[in-house]
Amino acid sequence: MSELVKKPVKITETVLRDSHQSLIATRMPTEYMLPIIEKMDQVGYNSVECWGGATFDASLRFLKEDPWDRLRKLRDGFKNTKLQMLFRGQNILGYRPYADDVVEAFVQKSVANGIDIIRIFDCLNDLRNLQATVNATNKIKATEGRGHAQIALSYTLGDAYTLEYWTDMAKKIEEMGADSICIKDMAGLLVPYKAAELISAMKESTKLPIQLHTHYTSGVASMTYLKAVEAGVDVIDTAISPFALGTSQPATEVMVETFRGTEYDTGLDQNLLAEIADYFRPYRDECLENGLLNPKVMGVDIKTLLYQVPGGMLSNMVSQLKEQNAEDKYYDVLKEIPEVRKDLGEPPLVTPSSQIVGTQAVFNVLMGERYKMATKETKAVLRGEYGQTVKPMSQEVIDKVIPGEERITCRYADLLDNEMEKLESEMAQWKQQDEDVLSYALFPQVAVDFFKYRQAQQEKVDMTKADTQNGAYPV
Ligand code: CO
Repeated sequence: MSELVKKPVKITETVLRDSHQSLIATRMPTEYMLPIIEKMDQVGYNSVECWGGATFDASLRFLKEDPWDRLRKLRDGFKNTKLQMLFRGQNILGYRPYADDVVEAFVQKSVANGIDIIRIFDCLNDLRNLQATVNATNKIKATEGRGHAQIALSYTLGDAYTLEYWTDMAKKIEEMGADSICIKDMAGLLVPYKAAELISAMKESTKLPIQLHTHYTSGVASMTYLKAVEAGVDVIDTAISPFALGTSQPATEVMVETFRGTEYDTGLDQNLLAEIADYFRPYRDECLENGLLNPKVMGVDIKTLLYQVPGGMLSNMVSQLKEQNAEDKYYDVLKEIPEVRKDLGEPPLVTPSSQIVGTQAVFNVLMGERYKMATKETKAVLRGEYGQTVKPMSQEVIDKVIPGEERITCRYADLLDNEMEKLESEMAQWKQQDEDVLSYALFPQVAVDFFKYRQAQQEKVDMTKADTQNGAYPV
């Protein structure tokens, strides 16, 4: 009998980022993470995703935590495990395109504070919007030996998204100097046999490692991973069982067990994983009890496959319609979404294109006339400020929404002046660390509110230390 050729599949654990972003609106506080990271550090994950996406916003806005401080604490605890973040290309972790100097500073500080792998995506899959982040990461790698640029392609369906499209993109990503590729399926649209086809084709077109990221939303994700692994995918993203399934990722333990004893055996220790699951289970129960975890997001939502709309987008749409007392227009909007998507060049639906398409579809239906009113963001997309779409945008819509305006065909950031100096001067009074400038750059209002809160806390702490008898206050 010949020895089995081993090709262990690697695991990225998402419980500290995407999993709680998907299930409990990114509300897991740092203090809840810290007691378990020593154990997580022993597992041998490919990486732990722990930062980026909405974590930054939610930390500042709702948890009143400094996201940079969280990152430093996680770095201290994870001695052996690579830490991974999600990065929205030229939009960084925010919602607008930034100048290159902000992108570079953000990458530099992310790595300096503990990030190893930066997963970079663009909501239109316009690779020009990813180059500055890749360059910044490679620059650090060259000097410090740390930093890995992973380009993520936002997975979507449509006439333009053929196998040739994906394999061609894979080649271009390799030429850009990225270290690996991720297929980022935010809505759970990638079904098992399509995954096998896609991964096989991509494996033939690039030597770069390929990682697959999907969500359990439509119920097919574990099977998709199985077929993708058989087709040669290198890494899969999973979440420890109490925070898996539903709108989150497939469960780590289930995938580990699936491949046990095969050539793909992950080698991860189930007992150790069980201890980690035991740690998170009471928190899941607590979230169910206080309503943070809605049992609705734990089921299979087959609508996501029918309408090809990410779950989060549907819930946004419902609340927009509710505000307007127009819940009866739900199915009209659902039909309008693919039409708007087509008008805007058939982009993937992921932050921020998902919000832009969804909101415009609501407007089109509620106003009773398509594009009678267009949002600022729809106009920006039509002008080309977000980048190039895979298909041309509707000339009719362009003529109606931005008549006679000049459209951009270059990389938008090439038109932007450096911003760091200006940003720093705007927030100078709050600055306690260089990283504060970047927090302010991303979320000006939310960051200033946080800085005020931080200052008040610091003063309060000092007050308790005050020597009231002598009237002396520490400074
Ligand atoms: Co995700």
